[in-house]
This record gives sequence, C-alpha cells and structure tokens, in this order.
Amino acid sequence: MIQLVYVSKAKDLSLEDIQAILRSSLDKNNTLHISGSLIFVKGYFVQCIEGEDATIEQTYERILQDTRHENIVIISKESIKERFFDGWSMSLVNERAYKEIVIKYCEDEECNLYFMEKKNMLTMLKEIASVM
Ligand SMILES: Cc1cc2nc3c(=O)[nH]c(=O)nc-3n(C[C@H](O)[C@H](O)[C@H](O)COP(=O)(O)O)c2cc1C
Repeated sequence: MIQLVYVSKAKDLSLEDIQAILRSSLDKNNTLHISGSLIFVKGYFVQCIEGEDATIEQTYERILQDTRHENIVIISKESIKERFFDGWSMSLVNERAYKEIVIKYCEDEECNLYFMEKKNMLTMLKEIASVM
C-alpha cells in the first residue's frame, strides 16, 4: 500500500465545485478501496490518498489531468502498512476543525503549503485524522 500527499492550487472554484469533486472522489475511491482526505485552505488543496500501489498511481494520474487545479506538487509518497484515514473514502476537512491544526504546523506567516516539511505535513494529517 502507498500513501501519497500532494499540494495544488485550486482554479477559482466555488463551494459547489468543491462538493462536486468530493462526490465523484467518494464514489470512485469507495470502489477502488482508496481512503484519504481533502483539505481546502486559502485556495489550495492538500490531498492525501491511500491504497494499493497501482490504484494510487492510476488515480494520481487522473487527478494530475484535472483542470480544476494546477501546480500539483507531491509532498510525500510513502509505502505504508496502516492507513491514516481508514474508513474514509474521502473526507473534506472542514474549516473550523482544521484551521487551528493547519496554523499550528505552518511555518511561515503566509502559510505556504508547498514549503511545508514532509514530516510536519504527515504529523498534521495524522492529527487531523485523529479528530475526525
Ligand atoms: C483536488 C482534486 C482532488 C481529487 N481527488 C480525487 C480522488 O481522490 N479520487 C478520484 O477518483 N478522483 C479525484 N479527483 C477527480 C479526478 O480528477 C477525476 O475528475 C475523477 O476521478 C473522474 O475521472 P474520470 O472522468 O476519468 O472518470 C480529484 C480532483 C481534484 C481537482
């Protein structure tokens, strides 16, 4: 199994657009036994996807092609034995729950997720998973 975490920039999306992404992801991930979370913060996405190696590679290829976001950069890609988001086909992390956690882990004032250290990113995701 692998876990892949990336950051990307959303292209001027409405809440409805994000909910549409979430709905299609939920359906597909459920079928493919993928778990994970989708964090939306200040116009950027942080997504964690976990599952069988080939499934994650194929899903990531599809995500890369999606024109609803850009500047997609992998922060972490790890072989895992246990999932962080077991039981969650995809969860949209809501503003109130995640804000304090994200702020805690972001190093600079502008909170540039692209520069977040991998170790901090994984610790942050684990903490988010623990409050879900
Ligand atoms: C930020 C973001 C996250 C996404 N996450 C997933 C995901 O976890 N699983 C998934 O199957 N598709 C995800 N998608 C959607 C895919 O890019 C794609 O639209 C969807 O899988 C449908 O693919 P298809 O048209 O080839 O069937 C995501 C798209 C965006 C923009």
